[in-house]
Amino acid sequence: MYVVNDPDLIREVLRAPKQFARGGPVMDRFRTMFGNGLGVSEGEFHRRQRALIQPAFHHKRIIAYSSLMSDQVASMLGSWRDGQRRAIDREMDELALANVTHVIFADDSGLDYSRFMEATANLLEGLFRRITDTTGLLTRLPTPSNRRYQEAVDYLRGTIDKVISDYRNSGVDHGDLLSMMVMARDDNGQPAMTEKQLHDEVMTFFIGGSNTVSNTLSWALHEIATHPDVEKRLHEEVDEVLAGRPAGHADIESLDYTRRVLTETLRVRTQGLFLSRVTTSDAELGGYRIPAGASVLYSFYALNHNPAIHSDPESFDPDRWLPERARWIPRGAFMPFGVGVHGCIGDQFAWTEMIISLATITAQWRLVSVPGHRPRPKPAITMPLDALPMEVRRRDVAAVSKAV
Ligand code: HEM
Repeated sequence: MYVVNDPDLIREVLRAPKQFARGGPVMDRFRTMFGNGLGVSEGEFHRRQRALIQPAFHHKRIIAYSSLMSDQVASMLGSWRDGQRRAIDREMDELALANVTHVIFADDSGLDYSRFMEATANLLEGLFRRITDTTGLLTRLPTPSNRRYQEAVDYLRGTIDKVISDYRNSGVDHGDLLSMMVMARDDNGQPAMTEKQLHDEVMTFFIGGSNTVSNTLSWALHEIATHPDVEKRLHEEVDEVLAGRPAGHADIESLDYTRRVLTETLRVRTQGLFLSRVTTSDAELGGYRIPAGASVLYSFYALNHNPAIHSDPESFDPDRWLPERARWIPRGAFMPFGVGVHGCIGDQFAWTEMIISLATITAQWRLVSVPGHRPRPKPAITMPLDALPMEVRRRDVAAVSKAV
């Protein structure tokens, strides 16, 4: 295995997908889950799939999704009571999953959202265990969690297939990502995607678009609670921009500090621990020869914690992203969403979702760490935390609006 640790060389790898193709230990596990979905497929087939799906992430669509995101976070906050202790990690998982589920399946899709989301949560949990279970033994035992995983897989497969076939039979455009894929036609006027491909793409979006976002939001809330100076400045910004109301798309560009807090969270709590590629022919990289068929690993986490790239890398300092300071960070060394043809298709969706959610939560609530509890990272492909219980305290929104 070759581990590449230099940002320029990582970019070189990612920009040459023919020579450094998808493969290696991480990608091989992905394949069992995503089949040939966008996160795994390659070459001409990948290019075509990406072109078919891209319109769902067009700027205009993101604006439309953003009101749905504001509604989702407002509805979550509506169930909070002052002084309660809540499992924030789980709430963030549900929030992110609800957002991505609504993009794929419109309200009139006939989906049982809550059951579906519960099954997806079980699937994600099991999937991460499978990725880290190198022997494959633990995940084959008849334990309750393995049974839960299998039930979730069966339920999700059955449900997704049923919705796909309903969509195909009715021919109705529900205005969601699934309709867009079901209705796509090839040059001969035939459906562009088989049932199996539709299925793989749906799974890709659930998995790629949920935990990455929810982990980042959970870590951000933890960092805010443990850095009073950051919390104070964030509250000042959201009070000035929102005065207690939920954030919408139009607020995003005014929420500068909120964005910096999230950027710093994406750096310190990197959601790409290890990814891999495989060489299709003998290659040369940074003066080293790499034979054909070798696994090439790269870690965005290692880059983001490299003191030669980020000064004092373990400290949580959103202001390192102020333009006058950010110019000291080597160009292109920070790539939380990857680069090249396989870069994240959902980056703008994720930014919109994370800024709207974080600003709306902190405009109305203060989240306080539970004494004695320190969340620990649970490294997987992404970087979830083990648990994040927090006490939620309602902020005095009336006082805020008067002051503003
Ligand atoms: C904080 C949030 C997110 C982070 C940090 C993130 C990160 C990444 C990274 C690093 C890659 C490239 C992986 C590689 O090089 O192989 C990627 C790809 C991808 N992401 Fe994201 N992502 C996030 C959110 C999302 C969302 C919200 C969606 C969908 C709604 C999404 C869907 C995808 C898909 C489909 C790919 C594969 C793209 C392709 O190969 O064409 N991601 N993401």
